[in-house]
Amino acid sequence: MAVVGIDFGSLHSKVPYSDTLCPTFIANFLPVVSRSVWPGIAVSTLSPTKSQIAKHRAYPSHSSDFCRLYPRHERSNQSLLLSIRSLVAFGPKQRAIGEPAKTQETSNFRNTIGGLKRLLGRTVSDPDVQNIEKTFTNVTLIDVNGTVGVEVKHLGQTQKFSTTQLVGAYLGKLRDIVSNELKVGVTDIVLAVPVWYTDIQRRAIIDAASVAGLNILRLINDTTATALGYGITKSDLPEAENPKHVIFIDVGHSSLSTAVVAFSKGQLTVKATAFDTNVGGRYIDRALVNHFAEQFKTKYKIDVLSNPKATFRLAAGCDKVKKILSANTEAPLNVESIMNDIDASSKMTREEYETLIAGVLDRIPAPLAQVLQDSGLTLEQVDAVELVGGCTRIPAVRAKIQTIFPGMALSTTLNQDEAIARGATFASAMLSPVFRVRDFAIHDIQPYPIKVEWEKAPEDPDEDTELVVFPKGNGIPSTKVLTFYRNKPFEIQANYAEPSGLPGGINPWIAKFTAKSIGPDPKGDLSCVKVKARLNLHGLLSFEAAYTEEIEERAETPMAVDGEPEAAPKKKKVVKKTDVPFVWGSTSLDKTIVESLREQEAEMHAADKLVVDTEVRFYTARRRGGKSDVRFRLVGPQERP
Ligand SMILES: Nc1ncnc2c1ncn2[C@@H]1O[C@H](COP(=O)(O)OP(=O)(O)OP(=O)(O)O)[C@@H](O)[C@H]1O
Ligand SMILES: [Mg+2]
Repeated sequence: MAVVGIDFGSLHSKVPYSDTLCPTFIANFLPVVSRSVWPGIAVSTLSPTKSQIAKHRAYPSHSSDFCRLYPRHERSNQSLLLSIRSLVAFGPKQRAIGEPAKTQETSNFRNTIGGLKRLLGRTVSDPDVQNIEKTFTNVTLIDVNGTVGVEVKHLGQTQKFSTTQLVGAYLGKLRDIVSNELKVGVTDIVLAVPVWYTDIQRRAIIDAASVAGLNILRLINDTTATALGYGITKSDLPEAENPKHVIFIDVGHSSLSTAVVAFSKGQLTVKATAFDTNVGGRYIDRALVNHFAEQFKTKYKIDVLSNPKATFRLAAGCDKVKKILSANTEAPLNVESIMNDIDASSKMTREEYETLIAGVLDRIPAPLAQVLQDSGLTLEQVDAVELVGGCTRIPAVRAKIQTIFPGMALSTTLNQDEAIARGATFASAMLSPVFRVRDFAIHDIQPYPIKVEWEKAPEDPDEDTELVVFPKGNGIPSTKVLTFYRNKPFEIQANYAEPSGLPGGINPWIAKFTAKSIGPDPKGDLSCVKVKARLNLHGLLSFEAAYTEEIEERAETPMAVDGEPEAAPKKKKVVKKTDVPFVWGSTSLDKTIVESLREQEAEMHAADKLVVDTEVRFYTARRRGGKSDVRFRLVGPQERP
């Protein structure tokens, strides 16, 4: 069993790749690595031999499917980070997922889908999908069974796929890459998702994981994962009465998340979270692309934005400009053959850049001020501000963050790319029976208030019809018991109490509960019905039990004592619980649907593999034969046995 933690990113997903996390390898290597790279994990086994260490240090830096990053420079026994592009592409012969999808994106942009994390759990009519996500894709977004999906050309035919299927395919690719690297099967994972993911999005990603044959041990909020990675390795945390408060700020490709976390010996407690779902690198990229496209209209008399291929070329150039400007005050832009055989060039100063992206930068302070306010802390009580996410490398982003934390050092002790995935991997190790991980409790919270609603009982016209059961900031996991007085079956609906606070127009509906077979109590009065609602570790709401409670008076005959008069029988009150049959439903897909999607995915996966294997054999045969000895022919699915 491998221990796998994944940071599901909108641009790249990251998976810490360390053979140390594969038990077969642990037996030889972890004693060395655990002290330097994963100090929270301890497995005491054999010492490695020199040749084993040498073998596992020699990593190539790049594969065709993904990038390997080296997060800890110069250190021996490095852990590595697999960074896998969040793209799925369809084509005439096969699908391409991850880096291969990026390679062919410019020539196949109508069939290459990114932003999977943003589309999951949404409907095509969501305002965010219509007004924002649509502007970041060239693929046709359509409705597929009530959720947003895509219409693409695959194997020469027009086909439709839901986002759940696309994410399933993508997670399947991550599974293949990781198991190939670790040389061990991967089934159980911990997945870091945005703290702003709602119940419907969390359920959708669990369904998508099932489509890929993966079991999610835990969905962990990304800021919480970062905090876990930060805290579990610290041996100098204070006592619980005087905790250390750290603010984590993650500015990524498409969103900003932040959390205030209190650390004390052996535990972390999330005190508040906040976010802006539309701040990040992709908005900066777009501002740059629009700027240069406008400039090139007069400079070269070309309309770059009217030509998707030219737009991709310009975007690649702008990405370089953005990164150069993080470390320099001026950056050149050179795009060869952008369109009409024109080589375009320009430059930008950091001052111009910061003016251009002011709209993005100006959104940064609000969630930071919010999280500080919600945590109830003053600035003086904050011990550290830790930055993660690719965009915190931008000096102007740091300057904006600094406006909320004047005079405080902004710290980057965590690796910006690796932090979330590393925390998720620790969470995975904590849940694994194979690893012994330092005891460290995680107290996480729920970002949105959840209410339940019901119809008034006719017998009680003054009864309320709704109640906020899990307020914002409620701990997870958490169980609450709701009490109703009813003499017939009834329903409860669970919804987010403040839909306007959810990410752009997402469906606030969570679940419906129906209690069946309820009648009056033995005295003919309304029955007292208790319903157990639970927020689980993934941040999902479920209804776990329903029962009636009846208070019965039972007579107890006291023991007779020799020589004393017989005492009168005592009455004792006993609570009698009787289960109430109930059903409840959520937005999770039906098991049979998941099963059929899994079969469909397995077929497509096998077909992709066949194409790749065939191509490999074909090229190997050519290399060996020295001429095109075509012994293998690519066949479409209709020709396969
Ligand atoms: N040196 C740099 N300067 C400027 N921007 C950078 C730099 N390095 C990375 N980025 C940008 O950071 C973004 C990627 O960050 P990150 O990997 O945290 O995103 P993500 O996790 O995929 O996205 P999200 O968390 O929003 O889903 C990209 O827009 C990338 O261009
Ligand atoms: Mg991220």
